[in-house]
Amino acid sequence: MREKLLVVDDERTILDLTAMVLRGKGFEVLLTDNAQDGYDIIAAEDPAVVLLDYMMPKVNGLAALCEIRQRFPQTYVIMFTGKGSEDIAVELMKAGAADYIPKPFSNTNLVERIENVLHLREIELRNIELLEERERLRKEIEKWNRDLEQRVEEKSLELKRAHAEILQSEKLAALGHLSAGMAHEIRNPLNSISLFVQVLQTGLKDDPELLSYSEKVIQEVERIDDILVKLLATSKRSPFQLRSISIQDVIDKALEMFSEQIQSQGVDLIKEYETSPPPILADSDELSQIFSNLFANALFEMATGGNLEVRLRHNEHNVMISVCDTGRGIPQEHLNQVFDPFFTTKKKGTGFGLSVVLRIIKTYGGRIEVKSEPGKGTCFDIRIPLG
Ligand SMILES: Nc1ncnc2c1ncn2[C@@H]1O[C@H](COP(=O)(O)OP(=O)(O)OP(=O)(O)O)[C@@H](O)[C@H]1O
Ligand SMILES: [Mg+2]
Repeated sequence: MREKLLVVDDERTILDLTAMVLRGKGFEVLLTDNAQDGYDIIAAEDPAVVLLDYMMPKVNGLAALCEIRQRFPQTYVIMFTGKGSEDIAVELMKAGAADYIPKPFSNTNLVERIENVLHLREIELRNIELLEERERLRKEIEKWNRDLEQRVEEKSLELKRAHAEILQSEKLAALGHLSAGMAHEIRNPLNSISLFVQVLQTGLKDDPELLSYSEKVIQEVERIDDILVKLLATSKRSPFQLRSISIQDVIDKALEMFSEQIQSQGVDLIKEYETSPPPILADSDELSQIFSNLFANALFEMATGGNLEVRLRHNEHNVMISVCDTGRGIPQEHLNQVFDPFFTTKKKGTGFGLSVVLRIIKTYGGRIEVKSEPGKGTCFDIRIPLG
């Protein structure tokens, strides 16, 4: 059976005639004598083409054409018109008719016109399908592009991070080498200086002024030694003992050490321990240094009050700690220097605090990131693997 056609005409003879001719050509033919039923048949049967009479008693043929085109855009309409009504035909074509056939018509002309419209319809529908397909593909490509851009961005960021980490490790490695050498070379003569001054002091007992100078020499020697010890700490691990410890306890104990300072500076301590992480295998003195250095820095920035916020969370793999303050913040241009040994903006700072923090966190396979908004405060986010 070929395509379905619907004939809408109030003249019985036209219906019978067209049905006979078209069925003879293999079409499936539906018939009705009024437009109203025609709409229902189209909705139910979805015919490819409707042959619609322009001159019908109840419904205006033009209105019926418009309605069909609007409600069933895939159904094409061929109009039957009276003879000599070319003006009307133009109007019908403008309103969306695929063709018009003046009555009376010949059978061959009727079939030929229908074949043409069916052919045109097929091409147009296929075209619409292709356009839709093209639009769908365009959107898909757009999405791929966006995904790709995002992945490139993520990878670039990862690369940048990895690069920064390598730089930092190289710096620390170079420093480790240097400081171990320095400590050896400098601490020995320092020790001698100290011993000789002590010997000298025995001869200076009667001269308090000179004695006080010699005391100063010893103090300064001790200060240098102190710096060297700290320098060593940034790069070299001191003897350690791994135990199963609670990181929460380590943080609390470190906070305890600062409780007086927190109170005297009028700082509000906000503790948010969302979870109680399982114990980790670590040296508690080492871990404690992380927090005491961070708290010391934070409190330094909040001499006249502010908020010190400590957050603790964990998931299957890591424990996450954030230490945030509402201090002056770190200027953008310093952000990637704060972990460098010797970098300090403080008059009496040595600039070792954060490099020690970084070294210890790395020892435990963790990560630290700093975020800061000048004028608002600073956050250090730490992640330490659980296993
Ligand atoms: N919470 C913070 N708010 C603002 N700036 C900070 C903060 N923490 C660190 N910094 C900046 O980073 C620098 C380096 O910090 P780091 O702890 O390494 O050394 P330091 O505090 O200067 O000296 P040290 O800790 O050796 O006494 C600081 O001098 C400061 O400029
Ligand atoms: Mg510090």
